[in-house]
Amino acid sequence: MTISDLFDAAPAAPSPAVRVQELHQLLHHHAHRYYVLDAPEIPDAEYDRLFRELQALEAAHPELLTPDSPTQRVGGKVLDGLMPVRHAVPMLSIETETDTTEQGAQNFDARVRKALGLLESDPPVEYAAELKFDGLAINLRYERGVLVQAATRGDGETGEDVTQNIRTIGQIPLRLQGCEAPVLEVRGEVYMRRDDFESLNEKQREKGDKTFINPRNTAAGAIRQLDPALVAQRPLSFFAYGLGEVQGWSVPTTHALMLDALLAMGLPVCVERTVAQGAEGLTVFHEAVRAKRDTLPFDIDGVVYKVNSLQLQQQLGFKTREPRWAVAHKYPAQEMLTTVQAIEVQVGRTGKLTPVAKLAPVFVGGVTVTNATLHNEDEARRKDVRVGDTVIVRRAGDVIPEVVSVLLEKRQPGAKVFTMPHSCPVCDSVAVREEGEADYRCTGGLFCSAQRVQAMIHFAHRQTMDLEGFGDEIIEKFVEKGLLKTVVDFFRLDQSLLIGFVLREEPFLYKDGEVRLKAVKIQKDLADKLLKSAEKARTRPLAKVIHGLGIRHVGEATAKDLARFFGTMDALVASSLETLQLIDGLGETTAESVVQFFTEPHNRSVVTSLLEEISPVAPANAERVRVLPFTRLLGCLSIKGIGAVTLTRVAEKFSTPQSFLSSISPDEESGGAPEGLIYQALCAPRWSRVLDEIKSLGIEWGAPVRESEDQALPLYGKTVVITGSMERFSRDSAKEYAERAGAKVSGSVSRKTDLVIAGPGAGSKLEDAKKLGVEVIDEEKFVRFLTISGVLQ
Ligand code: IVH
Repeated sequence: MTISDLFDAAPAAPSPAVRVQELHQLLHHHAHRYYVLDAPEIPDAEYDRLFRELQALEAAHPELLTPDSPTQRVGGKVLDGLMPVRHAVPMLSIETETDTTEQGAQNFDARVRKALGLLESDPPVEYAAELKFDGLAINLRYERGVLVQAATRGDGETGEDVTQNIRTIGQIPLRLQGCEAPVLEVRGEVYMRRDDFESLNEKQREKGDKTFINPRNTAAGAIRQLDPALVAQRPLSFFAYGLGEVQGWSVPTTHALMLDALLAMGLPVCVERTVAQGAEGLTVFHEAVRAKRDTLPFDIDGVVYKVNSLQLQQQLGFKTREPRWAVAHKYPAQEMLTTVQAIEVQVGRTGKLTPVAKLAPVFVGGVTVTNATLHNEDEARRKDVRVGDTVIVRRAGDVIPEVVSVLLEKRQPGAKVFTMPHSCPVCDSVAVREEGEADYRCTGGLFCSAQRVQAMIHFAHRQTMDLEGFGDEIIEKFVEKGLLKTVVDFFRLDQSLLIGFVLREEPFLYKDGEVRLKAVKIQKDLADKLLKSAEKARTRPLAKVIHGLGIRHVGEATAKDLARFFGTMDALVASSLETLQLIDGLGETTAESVVQFFTEPHNRSVVTSLLEEISPVAPANAERVRVLPFTRLLGCLSIKGIGAVTLTRVAEKFSTPQSFLSSISPDEESGGAPEGLIYQALCAPRWSRVLDEIKSLGIEWGAPVRESEDQALPLYGKTVVITGSMERFSRDSAKEYAERAGAKVSGSVSRKTDLVIAGPGAGSKLEDAKKLGVEVIDEEKFVRFLTISGVLQ
């Protein structure tokens, strides 16, 4: 020890370690006053001084730097990607009560009472009622009171590590007050206040940058950012609403008391909450929140009711992914009046023509709406929307805005009825509406530039090749200027093509005071980003590549099945119709569509060139299909005169084609008996090629699938019709999922139909269903059904 050390240690000046502790406490206290309570006790300059003092001490004594230090909120590293985090306790979702009247609350209360076995004479159940915040769910893990990890919800089982980003949110304590529990996971919502969102956009406008669309997407986007310094510039907020894993903390007895305890630890908890008695109490809360909804400082997505007693919550338990003790209760979608300026027809990836009403801009449910889909010809006719009409538009949650109805009394005389064009508005090819279909389709294929653009957009999408940075605008421009002729060109771009490419021209105020058009060009940063993301996409999983090709009827799930079955793109390209049909759940239409796609010379050459650029990652061995039941092959043979009885007999006796073939005597081989006919079919080139293909894929023949396995499927034996458009699914993938659930999907409604899944724009099929008394459900119910039954994960 030197003299000056002794001097430093004089009572007037505490040791660095002690002073660091003091500063931690002071800064935590003042940050809480400032960010959470909105009631600062000291001026900003004083806070900054304390902050800098701590920074200086930590620089001089790195051993005193701890993860809960207030200086650790900013300054993390830019990451390459977000790491997966497996949740100790799954992050569940909440069931949504779509009946927006008071009936919604009554439905939930009735379900709870029934599940608890309560009688009418029993007292009302006590609920905690709170807001449904519109942001991003986050799990905060505190160990011995220190924030050690923050993760997004992800798929509920596994989320992404966003600790660095969460640390930048001033409202989230890095250390809990008065809680030393070994583990306390707090769950809640990161969101952005409306005023913060407005001022952020104001800043964007000042900088000449693009403005953000709505608070929710901005908050969610910020949290998944890779550069924490950028996140620190986004004004994010947080509300706690629940718990994850807990060790060594005695959890209070009710949800409301638990939130009180979290509040006392320094976590932000929303004041708009109450404890309500029975359905009546819930209805009062629902109505009170509705009345003040527009004046709340942030967006909400309805309210949430939770059974207050944690013991009763435990007793009620869970359905597959949702607790029985909670429900989200929504409000009617928000509606506004506006006028139709034009009706345009847009061309989709598969050539589908969609009429879209171009609207005078109107602010509905938190965003400015300028387009509303009219879905298809029947729907446009049913609503009879005409140019110049005054219409009611509705926007519910995050869905595509819709025209609800026309105010006929405001219609201008002479307004013309809208009719669908019979040729493509982009390439002028013939547009046809096939029988039983609701949509017109352009027949131009990839000759049609609109379809080309859409095909590229699909290829670049996050769910397919994940070509980050290749937004719709860039792709459109690249296709227009010939940089992207086929999807292979994504991998042939280089700096010389990209840097200086003119994206658009915008009015610009020059120094001489004049406004002239200025070209917005691609700069080096963007060029690098695009090249980097193309580089990354060279090793995407095979299933994503197959999905990205945009083969009609091949959605995400089928692409996965194809990848698992074939293992390589080459094997898929070379496959036969018969082999494809052997794949579990893959129907004739899809198989035909796959063969057709790869027969087309243009597609073949694109795929060949693509494989020179990329190396799709094969599915893991454990995921590959290894065994195929012989019964499936027998079922596909379709030999005249041979029915199910014979096939079952053969299937029961033999488990592989080889054992069957070698059991046949020379007499039987050439005979006309059923066994002989099957033998001949299997030896004919068509099926012997299939046997070779299966062998070369390393797939073995196995025991027959027991009928009972199919019978266990939730829609086994049911005939389902899908009509109208869906938000979550393309029509093909909705069909695919229905089939996975065991249903037979049919194109028209008859007495034999068991269920109709109807989206917006459903026309005559829906009417038929109603006439025949067939059960009809909407997309939301369908999704819920699929989720509950485990078909959709
Ligand atoms: S409780 C087991 N409470 O809603 C129940 N969730 O579908 C777990 N959300 O993404 C959730 N406000 O982030 C709960 N007051 C609230 C909520 C809330 C918004 C979100 C949550 C999740 C979704 C659940």
